[in-house]
Parts: sequence; C-alpha cells; structure tokens
Amino acid sequence: MKGNHYRRLIAGVMGAAMALSSAASAVNAAFVAGEVSPVSAVGAADTSAVIYSTDFEDGDVSYFCNRGENDTTELSASTDMAVSGSTSLLASGRSKDWNGPAFQLDKICKPYTEYYVSFKFRGKYYTNGTVSFQYSDPDGTPHYQNLIKNISTSDWYTVENLKVSFTDEMKDVFVYIEGGQDDIYIDDFTLTEVPDVPIEEDIKSVRAVFADKFKIGTAITPDNLSSKPFMKLVEKHFSGSLTAGNEMKPDAVLNQKATLAYVEETGDDENPQVSFSAAKPFLNYCQKNNIPVRVHTLVWHSQTPDWFFKEGYQDDGEWVSKEKMIKRMENYIKNYFTELTALYPDVNFYACDVVNEAWTNDGKPRDPGQQGSSGSEKSAWVQVFGDNSFIEYAFTFAREYAPKGCKLYYNDYNEYMSKIDTIIAMAKELNEKGVLDGIGLQSHLDARDMATSAFPTVDMYKKALAKYAATGLDIQITELDATVDQNDPTKYIDYQGEYYKGIMDAIVEYSDSISAVVFWGVTDDQSWRANRLPLLFDADYKAKPAYYGVIGDREEQEIPTDPTTEPTTGEEIKGVWGDADGDDEIKMNDVVLVMQSIANPDTYGADGTAEKHLTLDAQKRVNIVDPDTTGVTVQDALQIQKFLLEIVPTLDPNA
Ligand code: XIL
Repeated sequence: MKGNHYRRLIAGVMGAAMALSSAASAVNAAFVAGEVSPVSAVGAADTSAVIYSTDFEDGDVSYFCNRGENDTTELSASTDMAVSGSTSLLASGRSKDWNGPAFQLDKICKPYTEYYVSFKFRGKYYTNGTVSFQYSDPDGTPHYQNLIKNISTSDWYTVENLKVSFTDEMKDVFVYIEGGQDDIYIDDFTLTEVPDVPIEEDIKSVRAVFADKFKIGTAITPDNLSSKPFMKLVEKHFSGSLTAGNEMKPDAVLNQKATLAYVEETGDDENPQVSFSAAKPFLNYCQKNNIPVRVHTLVWHSQTPDWFFKEGYQDDGEWVSKEKMIKRMENYIKNYFTELTALYPDVNFYACDVVNEAWTNDGKPRDPGQQGSSGSEKSAWVQVFGDNSFIEYAFTFAREYAPKGCKLYYNDYNEYMSKIDTIIAMAKELNEKGVLDGIGLQSHLDARDMATSAFPTVDMYKKALAKYAATGLDIQITELDATVDQNDPTKYIDYQGEYYKGIMDAIVEYSDSISAVVFWGVTDDQSWRANRLPLLFDADYKAKPAYYGVIGDREEQEIPTDPTTEPTTGEEIKGVWGDADGDDEIKMNDVVLVMQSIANPDTYGADGTAEKHLTLDAQKRVNIVDPDTTGVTVQDALQIQKFLLEIVPTLDPNA
C-alpha cells in the first residue's frame, strides 16, 4: 500500500506515466492539476469563459516567454508545422533540459480562481517532454512541480483541461514545457476559467453528524484554496480540523538558504532556520476561519532534506554526529514552534504529529540511510542515531517548545499490522514520561472489492482500535482514506461505501478514546491516490456511496459555535473532574485512591486497566490543582476533600 507513498497521482489520467516523482513533491509542491477525463470534468471547457486563446495564425507569440536570463530559448511564429491553420509557436535554441517555452499565468489570471489550460505540443522529430508548473513564494523562493511527466510520442501531444490555480501569496506563476533540448512547437493554446459549480447543500454535514463524538477534519493543499466548490465542501463537512497536505513537513519548513546564511553570520551550524512561506496560504485560511490545525509533521524519514543531517548542510556532506544532530533537532523544533506561534498567535494548533512513521511493519527501526531517490524508506534519523532513540528526544523537545494545549502524537501507517504492539509500548512509555499525549492512526485503507479482499478487513481494523483504546491514550484518526481496485475503480464504488460504513461504525464504537477523525482529502481527483478514488466526494463534488457509508443513519448534532473552545488550562478530560474511580461521582474513596496512588506510584494503573488504582484517564481527571505541571499531588486529594466539604464550588480547573 505504501508503494505510492511518495507519489501523488493525478486524476483521470493515464496511470504510471502521470505519477509525480518524489522530487516533485519534495519541493513543497503547492499545486496539483489533472488532465480531466470525461468522468471528472467539472463542467465542460466549452461552457467556461475563455480568457485567452490562440492558434498563432496572427503571428503573435508575445504571451509566451523563456524561463529567465539563463534560458537561451527563442520564441517565434513558425510555419514548419501546425495542427490548425499553417502556423504554430516555435521554441528554438533550447540549450538545457529545463529551458522553456513558458506561459505566465499570473499576468492574465486572478488568484483563487481555477483555470483549464489546453494546448497541443510536439518536438521537432519526436515529442519528449514534461509539462510543469512554477511559482515563487513570498520569500521569492521558486517551487516547481511536474504536472504531466515524461510524455513520449512521435506525434502532437494533446494537453486537455489541465487544471491550474494559485493564491495571492504566489507570484511569477508559470506553466511550461521542459525536457530534452530539441525545438518545441505549440499550437491551439486555450485558457478558460473553470465554472463555479454548486455543491449539494441539502445533505448532512459530516462534521455535524459526529459533532458530539469527535472533531471531523481533512487535509488540504494550497491549490485547493482556489477552488470555490472544494472549499465549500471543506467548510460544510470538514471544518473541525485541518492538516496541511505537505506544507508543514520538514522539507517545506527547513530553509537551507537561511540556514547557510545563519552559519555564515554566526559560525553556529547547530541552528537550522525555518520558514512557513509555503504554508502561509493554508495558515491564513485557518486563521481567518477559526479552524483548529493539526501540525504535520516534525520528525520523519520522508520529505526531509538530506542536508539537514550533513556537515556544512550540504546534500553530499558527511553525516553529522549524534550529539550535533540532537542540538540541530532541538533548535529546529524550537524554531518551528517559535516562528509558527509568532506568525499565527490566534491559530489553535491543537495537535502535532511529533514523529511520523518510525517503525517498519514488523515493529523494527527503519534501515539507516539517505532519503535519496524516489520511494526510499530509509531513515537519516536512524543513520545518525544508530537506532530509534531519536523519537524520545523529539517528544521531549516538542513538549518543551509546543504551545500549551497542543497535544503530541506519534503517527503511523499500517498501524493495524504487527507493529501495533511496538507502537503501543513506545507510546505508553513516552506518556509516562509526560512527553506524549496520543497516537495518530493514519488509516490509509484499501477497500478493494471488500467482499473478498479488503485490507485491512473491518474486523482487523476494529481489533486494532480496541488495542489502541485500551491504552487510555488519546487516539486520533489522522489520514483516513480507503482506495478501491486500480484496474476498475468505478466498479467497486458501492463496496467502498459498505467498507467505509464498517470502518466508521468501528470508530464510533471507540469514540470515547478518539478525539478527531481527519480524512486525507475531500474529492477523489485531488487525492494523493487519485487513481483509486479513495475519498467521500467525487471530482464533481458529489457525495459518493463512501459518504453515505460514513454518515449511516446518524443525525446531525449541534456544532459547537466556537471550534477553538478548548480548555486553556489543564487537559480535556473524559468523565468528571476529581473522579478517581470512574463512577462519575465524587466521594471520599476518590480522595483515598488519589492518596494511595501517590504513596504507591507503581500502582497508578498506568496500563489503563488496573481497577483499584488510577487509570491514565483518572490521572488526568484528578490532576486539578496545578494541571500544567504533570503528575498528581497531595494537593489534588486535598482539593477533592475541600469539594466534598463544600469549601470549593467546583473541581473543574477551567471553571
Ligand atoms: C502525502 C501527500 O499527500 C502527498 O502529496 C506527498 O507527495 C506524499 O505525502 N502519510 C503521511 C502523509 O503522513 O504526510 C502523506 O502525505 C501520506 C502518507
């Protein structure tokens, strides 16, 4: 299942040829586009407003350019060959693979609006090329993404309804053709605005249906922000929690240029510098709309630049020592949260995936090594630390520097397989040390044809949930999606609905332990696994059987009016404040239990199952007097007594 881990597939396209390489995703690709198939076309292009259209018969090529000073490409109108009429655009004199032709979108297009780009292109003798997208972030750093990779044909290649968009933070936005150094011809170029389509307003809101159980959220990428119908779906169904699809990952945040400048200035090579320029469109949206954010992710083997681990911050440098990496890690995590909270003091960063995917399926550390070429599952963290001991350092630093109220999670995939016991043992240990609050279950599932071969089966997933719930730790479903068979995806759409129903029923069964359910996207065409249609809505923004499976026969509940209402002090607790034995009542035996647990700390019941002592939930409920310092004290027992004697009116530290 994780074969596609580093690849984001484009909607309705021709399979493997269209897969984006990890190199593309590693540049904080803030963009995804798809050649729209008849199924996923959102309003046919001919009903859209045409912004610009040319067949080059008038000889005007002024809308096109090369890719800057060092690009030798020259553009002219040519009658060598053409699709319609007798003239096309010729890009000649290309001396590097990356040379244009390019079309600058932000000269004639508006931000936050989607466009279709359609054109035909070919090489002089053979057509070999990649259609790409480029923009510069507010720091002026350019970002690139391959939209249609490695096109190879002996004829004209048709690019039809390639969806592009950008936000107002993105400047110098181009669509361009690259690859080889041959001449390139373009003909019949059209740019149209994607028409706004209504969403289904009359169906139940996923968020409202589960409002009394857990937050419902999703992950979005900056380009999603430009699609009005997409964002209407986010607002209606998923606005309980948002995760940035890529823009808050280490490769998007760690800034090599600023880091090198810092070394130059100070001589200190243990203080990696960060920038949230790629995440700004996302964070601005969350701020404006008061949506709680899951920070994803700090420490991961993937989407993390190699230079971070190397002497001189050079990709090809020697690995640094463990001691140096601990310093770099601490400063990185410190800078991450300091910068984030300075930029967005009002955003509720309520959860953070401190460490992502550190265990292999059988519960072992990853192989050491460089991230390197696409799909490598090796870990530079293991390379430098020799083992998985970096995990505890990461949580310790995160606890120190994360904003108050931000809960800290270990997040992983295939979490229902044999690694389960390793994850649980590690999480409990870190929780006892006070540095971890919960476990994130990615839940990238595969419904396939459920009847014979869903993986995991609903039952397997449910058994895993039972195990995680028994830890007493907070559980979040962090990246839920469920694919169907790639070869004939539409055939299994109904099975997928049944599968989602089974999965959601299981999640609801353990809802006491689960505080958020976050989907990994909204519409199939924008998913990282688009060709296997894994989400609740289709490319036309219509609810699929998957949506109806999730909703089941549940009714909408009242949504809290202020989604940021989180306790400002203390923990969100399950049950009644001061209730040590879990009977929902405050009596003298609660005081006794608290005292016993202090006298005999080994019998706190930290495994969450002991009956006579404090479960982890109970420890939270009785941690009343000074909830910010971890641990239950005699003061807490005293406070419960005061409550019983009616000396204090409430045990709720937030009241
Ligand atoms: C994925 C993104 O959705 C893709 O765009 C990117 O190319 C690769 O990463 N587990 C995670 C997520 O924790 O960060 C991954 O997101 C999906 C798997």
